[in-house]
Amino acid sequence: MVKCKCWALSTKKDEDKLLEDDDSEQIIPLDQIIPPAIVQFLDDMEREKPIRFTSQQVRIATGSFCSILGSGGFGIVYKGIMSINKYVAVKVLNGTSNKRIEEQFMAEVSTIGRIHHHNLVRLYRFCFEPSLIALVYEFMVNGSLDKHLFKANQGEMIGFDKLHEIALGTARGIRYLHEECAHKIIHHDIKPGNILLDSNFCAKVADFGLAKLCNREKTHITMTGGRGTPGYAAPELWMPLLVTHKCDVYSFGMLLFEIIGRRRNMDTTLGDSQQWFPIWAWEIYEKNQLKELMIDCEIEEKDLEVVERMLKVALCCCQYRPENRPMMSVIVKMLEGLLEVPEPLNPFTHLFSGSNQPNVSATRMSWNVSGSTWSSSV
Ligand SMILES: Nc1ncnc2c1ncn2[C@@H]1O[C@H](COP(=O)(O)OP(=O)(O)OP(=O)(O)O)[C@@H](O)[C@H]1O
Ligand SMILES: [Mg+2]
Repeated sequence: MVKCKCWALSTKKDEDKLLEDDDSEQIIPLDQIIPPAIVQFLDDMEREKPIRFTSQQVRIATGSFCSILGSGGFGIVYKGIMSINKYVAVKVLNGTSNKRIEEQFMAEVSTIGRIHHHNLVRLYRFCFEPSLIALVYEFMVNGSLDKHLFKANQGEMIGFDKLHEIALGTARGIRYLHEECAHKIIHHDIKPGNILLDSNFCAKVADFGLAKLCNREKTHITMTGGRGTPGYAAPELWMPLLVTHKCDVYSFGMLLFEIIGRRRNMDTTLGDSQQWFPIWAWEIYEKNQLKELMIDCEIEEKDLEVVERMLKVALCCCQYRPENRPMMSVIVKMLEGLLEVPEPLNPFTHLFSGSNQPNVSATRMSWNVSGSTWSSSV
């Protein structure tokens, strides 16, 4: 008799049985046993909201946590498999569980799990047990954008036409969170590490809703209720000011600068004037010296128009005052070229306190080297 392991699409009872019976010899996809219409129905049911996993199921899906994809402020991310050709990324969250936070967790997870958009990473399953809290996401073959943007080998860089599509896809994903889904969601941590790329290099925003779920102390700041990664976090996140969805717009602007420069915004190995890319880019823009930007960022003539548009949008997004930053729907239209980008004002005047030189300690507050350096000169 052929044993089959197809619990991703089976009932809870079947799943438990199959998990007990883990010495399966041959794996047969469920769609070879059950009529396609039923598989489709079960698939649709599954898509509706995330399903609960036991810690044992998580362990089996990840092959006892044998393949690490990466780690971040929330915990470690493992590669896993749910059924044939259905790979997943399992994020094991730091922290402990108890009955009180379980309710809140379930509420948040159910919100995140019901959000479906082409440019947002799907949450399939979750686990909440005293020994393990984990989220099971769709697997993104091409990993996160930072790995492609900050490659040492310039020859393998993604071209600007694709980067523009990635920026646009990201903007559409954030627009959905801010303006289109039933529960308005502020991401709080937009950065290249949270933009994942599928097999076609289509951008999907990851980790939305997590800011509400977890507290991250090691690599992320938590002040006045707001959170974010240094270098991408808007100024109001470290000041006693109201935090709105405009903090994501600021971070998106910082992300755009990194896309244009195909480098981290802060690079201490470069000369003083270029160490912090956003200020350098503003000066280039102000003096209308785009030729210099083209040479330094290896931008070809054919891409100049689209890069200039992205630069102007980035400068609009990083305005110091949240109310001066555009809404994501406006940003999408500007990136699509359907709306003219207004002439941006200098977003960094607050960093120049009376002199022509940027205030170094203030600048440090806005940057981050590899996500790890956070100046305490605040
Ligand atoms: N769904 C996924 N598919 C493929 N790889 C993923 C997926 N989710 C995460 N990863 C990989 O795991 C790495 C770590 O992700 P993680 O979200 O834990 O950290 P981060 O994004 O760098 O920081 P943060 O904690 O602020 O989100 C990512 O950089 C990415 O390479
Ligand atoms: Mg992440």
